[in-house]
Amino acid sequence: MYSGELVTLRAFELDDLDEIMQHWNNYELRKFVDNVLPVSSVSEKEWLERVAKLNPWRDHELLFAITETKTGKLIGGAGLHDISFDSRHTEFGISIYNPDYWSKGYGTDATTLTLWIAFHILGLNSVTLRVFEYNTRAIKAYEKCGFKRVGILRKRKFIDGDFHDEIIMDFLADEFFERFPPGTKPWGCKR
Ligand SMILES: CC(C)(COP(=O)(O)OP(=O)(O)OC[C@H]1O[C@@H](n2cnc3c(N)ncnc32)[C@H](O)[C@@H]1OP(=O)(O)O)[C@@H](O)C(=O)NCCC(=O)NCCS
Repeated sequence: MYSGELVTLRAFELDDLDEIMQHWNNYELRKFVDNVLPVSSVSEKEWLERVAKLNPWRDHELLFAITETKTGKLIGGAGLHDISFDSRHTEFGISIYNPDYWSKGYGTDATTLTLWIAFHILGLNSVTLRVFEYNTRAIKAYEKCGFKRVGILRKRKFIDGDFHDEIIMDFLADEFFERFPPGTKPWGCKR
């Protein structure tokens, strides 16, 4: 598995369902990542059954469960979506499920580890993400990791009766390699 300073990335397992369901219907979380309609445990179980079997080379997608290294507790998920092995590009996404775990460095650690896997293991060249402009905590975390703002999709998100811009950020392999050259591992990264 892959461990940074605070978190470990592992595959999702079916018995992660209960922990995810404790948080996934929290409006304060979902307003940052998705629509805000209720999700049933039946849907979430189907999602888990799919992601537990993902193979990035076949499915062009890779998702990790984020666990707190100290306790082994599941605290979130991070993923690489729409992976193109021709253009060597992917879209990054992340959620730390429980707001009690926000702003404690877990997201920055998990993002850097996932980037390390994208660039050092999968050999990708470009990682893009999209973030709603009101998600200032996420933007701060992404900028700390080294993502750069490269564009804006105007009024792309509708929530609570109003439209909000979506910010596009990206990260190139050469930029990541300045911090983690090929052959190096992030912090105590064990695998
Ligand atoms: C976005 C997310 C992954 C970031 O992870 P995190 O562990 O909370 O972030 P970190 O603690 O690593 O970094 C957050 C930084 O933003 C700062 N911050 C906290 N609240 C903030 C706010 N409202 N505005 C601006 N900065 C803020 C923190 O102080 C910290 O900076 P610092 O290390 O310089 O003090 C996590 O908060 C999360 O999952 N949120 C809900 C889902 C979500 O937004 N997903 C991303 C969708 S694009």
